[in-house]
Amino acid sequence: MTSRRQFFKYLLAIAIVPIPVLSAVSKKIFSNKFSVPRLELGERKGKDVYFNLNIQKGLSQILPGKATPTWGINQPFLGTTLRAKKGDSVHINVSNSLSRTTTLHWHGVKLPAKADGGPHQPIHPGKTWLSEYEINQPAASLWYHAHQMHETGEQVYNGLAGMFIVDDDESKLLGLPSEYGIDDFPVIIQDKEINKDGSFEYIGRFDVEAGMMGKMGETILVNGVTNSLLSAQKSLIRLRILNGSNARIYNLQFDDNRSFKIIASDGGLLEESVSVNNITIAPAERIEIVVDVSDGARITLIHNAQMDGMGNMESSEMGFFETIAMSIFADDSPPKNYNIFQIDASKALPSSATVPIKLSTHQDISQEPIAERRTMLLKMEDDSPFTTMTVAILGSKDLMTINGKSMDINRIDEVVKAGTVEVWKIVNDSMMAHPFHIHNVQFKVLNKMHGIKGHELGYKDVVLVQPGETLEVVMKFPDFRDDKTPYMYHCHILEHEDRGMMGQFVVV
Ligand code: C2O
Ligand code: CU
Ligand code: CU
Repeated sequence: MTSRRQFFKYLLAIAIVPIPVLSAVSKKIFSNKFSVPRLELGERKGKDVYFNLNIQKGLSQILPGKATPTWGINQPFLGTTLRAKKGDSVHINVSNSLSRTTTLHWHGVKLPAKADGGPHQPIHPGKTWLSEYEINQPAASLWYHAHQMHETGEQVYNGLAGMFIVDDDESKLLGLPSEYGIDDFPVIIQDKEINKDGSFEYIGRFDVEAGMMGKMGETILVNGVTNSLLSAQKSLIRLRILNGSNARIYNLQFDDNRSFKIIASDGGLLEESVSVNNITIAPAERIEIVVDVSDGARITLIHNAQMDGMGNMESSEMGFFETIAMSIFADDSPPKNYNIFQIDASKALPSSATVPIKLSTHQDISQEPIAERRTMLLKMEDDSPFTTMTVAILGSKDLMTINGKSMDINRIDEVVKAGTVEVWKIVNDSMMAHPFHIHNVQFKVLNKMHGIKGHELGYKDVVLVQPGETLEVVMKFPDFRDDKTPYMYHCHILEHEDRGMMGQFVVV
């Protein structure tokens, strides 16, 4: 019964603590060095850029004195940061040194289906796969990660994820902080459950709750390091935040509640920077922010669980029995806050960078004819405790569905015409929030029940759909045609994806 019970507790906790409370996070001094992933620019011959990636095993020290077996790309844990420019043709040679089949997917990239790195491009142990495409989209913080059928959760959890930064000429002229590792940093946030011996604990066979809610852990890592301290060299700091967690949604704010500016979403720069005090970031989303630390303070980025919550459900939306069940199962512990990492700005020098209000101009596709409207109904088909338990024990993958169907790699669910504009309505008919992701496009969010603000004003490839919420996204599909090789759309809670909340489309 654990999962449903925990879930009700969680909902209740959200309902009874309406105001942000920060006191639960104490001000401790972090001392682990902030990790800046190694930057790789590839080997350049004009517009052609060649990358060699090796998917490998390694050992990492995450807890003091303990060696954690990890997976990584060109390093023991996580991937190096790859960087290229709009207009470049990239040629990425991916070797698999693991003893397991894997894939490497280019999340957020507009590219031919064969280069996508989804479940249809497996790389068997000892084999190599070549992904080639031209970068034809604006500057953005994209990412790459494993996408093996039914194993994405475990493989990303082990470390198969990294950042892919795309640059362009227009964004260079803005004067934003952009010196990698100086005033511009990837911030890959992940939560892990770590055993006493240092090893990562993924989902046990009988762990019903983690299967249903998604795998979460109590140790928060930033670029693979816990409790890290970034010694700011400059007074203006750009953070390219990627929620690389399997399932946890973070409500981020600084412990002194200072404001900061959102400059970019998944697909690149917003049209205008937005000043806020907090952001909610779901798995796979990227939000670029710029924070002013010219006051020389020591500040901690925290996850404030009480602030908004993944549920965001009001009790009035709940049925009678759910409300009763909640009061039966509730205990008095509110959801937990977590420290993410700390910035010490006591030695920061004045920055010459700026954050203009006007950042970019987005192409307006709202006037173009809509070629097709589709509906995606997200369901956790039967989440009764008995079924959940049975499914978990027998290992069936059919619990999570889109439009009543679980992912079948041999079934094409949708056929899209290249170069056309479509509107997809995403309906969440379940008790959990789902971050819905579509490969090969950047979309705009329309008609969101809870309003569109902050990073959701920009181009997105993942959108968080709250329980009971319906929203629409509009997008123009790029001109790559391949009637045999599908792209995916799915929930980016990786345990939901692995259990079937995924479908396939071809572009013709
Ligand atoms: Cu981030 Cu289908 O992927
Ligand atoms: Cu993707
Ligand atoms: Cu989901």
